[in-house]
Amino acid sequence: MAQQTLLILDFGGQYKELIARRVRECNVYSRIEPGEIPAEKVREIAPVGIILTGGPNSVYREDSPHIDREILKLGIPVLGICYGAQLMAYTLGGTVEPCSVSEYGKTRMTVDPESPLFDELEPEQIGLMSHTDRITVLPAGFTSVASTADCPNAAMQDPRRGLFAVQFHPEVESTPNGTQILYNFLFRVCGAAGDYNLHDLEKRLIEQVRAQVGDAHVLLALSGGVDSSVCAALLSHALPGRLHCIFVDHGLMRKNEGDEVEAAFSGRDLDFIRVNAEDRFLEKLAGVTDPETKRKIIGAEFVRVFEEESAKLPDVRFLAQGTIYPDVIESGGSHAATIKSHHNVGGLPKNMRFSGVVEPLRNLFKDEVRALGRQLGLSRAYVERQPFPGPGLAVRVMGEITREKLEILRDADAIFREEVGRLRVRPDQYFAVLTDTRSVGVVGDFRTYDYTVALRAVRTSDFMTCEYAPLSHTLLGRVSARIVNEVKGAGRVVYDITGKPPATIEWQ
Ligand code: XMP
Repeated sequence: MAQQTLLILDFGGQYKELIARRVRECNVYSRIEPGEIPAEKVREIAPVGIILTGGPNSVYREDSPHIDREILKLGIPVLGICYGAQLMAYTLGGTVEPCSVSEYGKTRMTVDPESPLFDELEPEQIGLMSHTDRITVLPAGFTSVASTADCPNAAMQDPRRGLFAVQFHPEVESTPNGTQILYNFLFRVCGAAGDYNLHDLEKRLIEQVRAQVGDAHVLLALSGGVDSSVCAALLSHALPGRLHCIFVDHGLMRKNEGDEVEAAFSGRDLDFIRVNAEDRFLEKLAGVTDPETKRKIIGAEFVRVFEEESAKLPDVRFLAQGTIYPDVIESGGSHAATIKSHHNVGGLPKNMRFSGVVEPLRNLFKDEVRALGRQLGLSRAYVERQPFPGPGLAVRVMGEITREKLEILRDADAIFREEVGRLRVRPDQYFAVLTDTRSVGVVGDFRTYDYTVALRAVRTSDFMTCEYAPLSHTLLGRVSARIVNEVKGAGRVVYDITGKPPATIEWQ
């Protein structure tokens, strides 16, 4: 039986992915489509329910995104959130006007416990508000089921038609009972079956891959990152003996990383090809200091190595990629190009002989990919690896790349990661950078002239912006002492306290 889908229509709100993840956490599969999708397409998808997201516009402006009003007549339950709530009111003949007092942040509200949305909840609730317009006149057939001091219609409903709307954001943590409200919509209003879970998901993905590739062989460029690794683990279950993974070790990995990747895949039913290409890469990078040139050289060399190695393989007809859902959403939803240019490696060869691309993870969020990886037997430490740039340590060694500098960075970085790794709450990304600055020091009676290591640790949810992590001075002091004592060639340690913007997370 086909799995149920909850359709999320995107009106430009920043929380669309969060809504989709919350719904999936309630064991209902969700997918995001553009808000202006025609009703006909919605009918084809046949969702069990629809959620309209928030957005930054005003519904009464002509150039704001609108909804095909037929969607509201399909008999499928709809929940409008924020802009989505106003859009529902406006489309059905209600009135939306600018607020006399805009509401931002956690706001007290009184809800009607008789409403199916607020089932099991007390009348006094907190909701995260963020709006400058509000619904002033409800459309015919609707009643108000929540209010705040400044917003008399903080939620409205017409249960007969299955139409519900909330001005606040149930998807964020600042609305403490938000998940219960979404749960109520899914299970009490839409009658969802809750048929989405990881175990079935794995089985279904395996069936899909088998149906797609038949008895062909598949090639995967395994970077060692979480996505390509989980993809490899899944495909090795789906296609025992027919998955060929090329892992190009460009010599720019972190300490012991190449061996860890190899160990994670030994004993699995796949053809694991490790190419130790350090010499080639370092030769090409010799004397190069410009960051973009480094990236380009590495991308081009990667493609060359990959082509040479794959040419040695027998009849491989499919190329697998670890594309995940946020990549798909970012590159334009369902209209995304079929072959994503691999952001890790600067583009895989376009002229290779593949008859198709296999992307089994393309509907999954990162936390689902991690959970799937665990289920497929990858260790927790492995699936929780931090993001690591494709060009590796090349963009963390400032100036020219040499074996000596790489060695210093690897050792310093390992110490920093080991120490921070002991924290109960860790920053989202943390690593060391080797600056191109050497400074004078003194060890015993000798003058030294060694490199300065910079430590970087950031807090971020999306890696698009970040703030520096306020690590304790005790921790920083311990890391610094260990680095200058244990790492030959490292003479000074500094901590980077810049946010993004204006800095980026990586130094190059
Ligand atoms: P920036 O430095 O742009 O980094 O603030 C944002 C996030 O992306 C990672 N990053 C990369 N990831 N290939 C990748 O797959 C790359 O070339 C690359 N460059 C940066 C970076 O580690 C951070 O998490």
